[in-house]
Amino acid sequence: MATPVTKSNLTEEDQIFLLLRQLDTVPGASQRATAAAIGISLGRLNALLRDVADAGLITISERAGPDKRQRFAYTLTSRGGAEMRHLTDSFLARKLAEFEALHAELTGTTSGRVPFKNRNSIMENNLAPIPELYVSYESAQKLKVEAGDLTSHDLTPRQICDLELLMNGGFNPLKGFLSEEDYNGVVENMRLADGTLWPMPITLDVSEDFAASIEAGQDIALRDQEGVILATMTVTDKWEPNKAREAEKVFGADDDAHPAVNYLHNQAGKIYLGGPVVGIQQPVHYDFRGRRDTPNELRAYFRKLGWRKVVAFQTRNPLHRAHQELTFRAAREAQANLLIHPVVGMTKPGDVDHFTRVRCYEAVLDQYPSATTSMSLLNLAMRMAGPREAVWHGLIRKNHGCTHFIVGRDHAGPGKNSAGEDFYGAYDAQDLFRAHQEEMGIEMVDFKHMVYVQERAQYEPADEIKDADDVTILNISGTELRRRLAEGLEIPEWFSFPEVVTELRRTKPPRSQQGFTVFFTGFSGSGKSTIANALMVKLMEMGGRPVTLLDGDIVRKNLSSELGFSKEHRDLNIRRIGYVASEITKNGGIAICAPIAPYATTRRAVREDIESFGAFVEVHVATSIEECERRDRKGLYKLAREGKIKEFTGISDPYDVPVDPELAVETENVDVDNCAHQVLLKLESMGLI
Ligand code: PPS
Repeated sequence: MATPVTKSNLTEEDQIFLLLRQLDTVPGASQRATAAAIGISLGRLNALLRDVADAGLITISERAGPDKRQRFAYTLTSRGGAEMRHLTDSFLARKLAEFEALHAELTGTTSGRVPFKNRNSIMENNLAPIPELYVSYESAQKLKVEAGDLTSHDLTPRQICDLELLMNGGFNPLKGFLSEEDYNGVVENMRLADGTLWPMPITLDVSEDFAASIEAGQDIALRDQEGVILATMTVTDKWEPNKAREAEKVFGADDDAHPAVNYLHNQAGKIYLGGPVVGIQQPVHYDFRGRRDTPNELRAYFRKLGWRKVVAFQTRNPLHRAHQELTFRAAREAQANLLIHPVVGMTKPGDVDHFTRVRCYEAVLDQYPSATTSMSLLNLAMRMAGPREAVWHGLIRKNHGCTHFIVGRDHAGPGKNSAGEDFYGAYDAQDLFRAHQEEMGIEMVDFKHMVYVQERAQYEPADEIKDADDVTILNISGTELRRRLAEGLEIPEWFSFPEVVTELRRTKPPRSQQGFTVFFTGFSGSGKSTIANALMVKLMEMGGRPVTLLDGDIVRKNLSSELGFSKEHRDLNIRRIGYVASEITKNGGIAICAPIAPYATTRRAVREDIESFGAFVEVHVATSIEECERRDRKGLYKLAREGKIKEFTGISDPYDVPVDPELAVETENVDVDNCAHQVLLKLESMGLI
């Protein structure tokens, strides 16, 4: 702590703060030493200990062992840990205010606050340690044992990313998952209940069943997917959010074409829990450990190197030459060092996986001057929320010690909405950032779209090209790049670095060598299995890739023998099929699936899982329900009509007709061979065979 505590003028809050900190950092100290460290009498210490124990902040137990001078052991409860962090902040804030007042007095300025633009001289603020939510190592060991008895919530991959940034200060000033009041403020006007700017709801979504088992005030353990306890949380709030409202306000539209809206409605639990978090340990990462840094690690690194001004570049894509030019220009413009800060948590479904990207970044790093540039990986779960996301990214980078942040065209754009239009304007993110940057304390370096000017053999921002009519402007879009990679076509040197292209080709060979999934969907008796069988034989005849058929009936006998036909069970069944198909696709095989798969959201989830590894070809076997019932090859429709089979698709259970399948086949006047041939032609036209 920079400013020493004047012990004579300690308030009661200070005393409690110092006591909790003392018990946390030196838990075995004698009462005399503790009282001395705080600067209070033994009598006062005992009174304080009673008060904080009554308030549930510490537990008192008889100490085992020979030392008679120390009869009792004092242990911080998780609530005590949370309170300590809270008090730490208010203590620091008060000390800062005192410092600023003193500064104002000494410099003769009326306010201690230096206007943002002139802050460079005290920019070291950006490099001072930032509050984390972790308790000390010793307390963590104790808390871990204590937390073993608590009700546990198994975190989803997105929640693990959120928790990591909450705990390490990346989401400072948040102290946990948002309370209902903070959530409402964030959704409605991008502010926490106390008015602090915060654009993104960081919420702990859980199932209704789990929520029903929790009461307000209860502590729960937050575990990763292997069951390791990462943190505890005191649940202060439990509520059912208005998700449609959240979608409209935060993401701009209640439209499932937006990946985060889709997540909100179809993956996130129905109930939100809020409350302060006490960090026990960081989530474990086995990959690229040396490249991952907490905000405090980066701040310390910048301090060590004497980097006062740092401009951060956020990315979820491989870096090509345009990005390099943009980052060079940004560093020059801001006269700052450069931090390449790619997201490796969760990005847009279908993006290049982070393993490949990091190998690409490492290859490109040689092209940057190492004395002025650094790279660090950020375990953020993006939401693709465009303007709000840009502000959020800026705040996160500020927490990581950066003073400037690059916002380009369509920052964190989610793609097209269901009407085929962009969700946000190309420069909306820059506008929102600009409107808040002073308050945020991080400055934007904005760029227009970068394009290649052939005559000058360099990249330039599109809006700065004065002679646009006289020069040749070249550009390769993301979609075009994916097409070229998929079809094994040339990627010119002016566009990317050979090392990057080699790396991308290594992970994404041409489509004709990748695995893929053909996913038939349609009513029972529509002909899915028959066409799927014919297709399998034709593909095996061609050879080259292993082919696996996951037929509805076969799967239900093997993978899903215990499942029925409720919505929940059907979803589980399709998810399992999707999981197996994605593994087959990832490993270069062909998976042919033929379940009914009646629900569009589940089909979409499976598509998203598979498309990160290879193509997903949805084939709607569009035989009408009347025709299926007329054929009734298994006699099931008759039983369904008689009510002897419940929840029968098309009779007493819904079927969402695919809106935009890769192929729809009619079976009523067409033979099986022809249908299978149509699928083959489709695969050929997609470059898959
Ligand atoms: S789902 O919804 O995708 O999980 O269904 P799926 O696993 O493909 O269904 C496989 C076969 O189960 C028979 N069957 C039913 N279908 C629909 N609804 C109900 N209630 C039902 N009960 C049994 C049906 O014959 C399906 O066979 P297919 O291969 O589609 O003809």
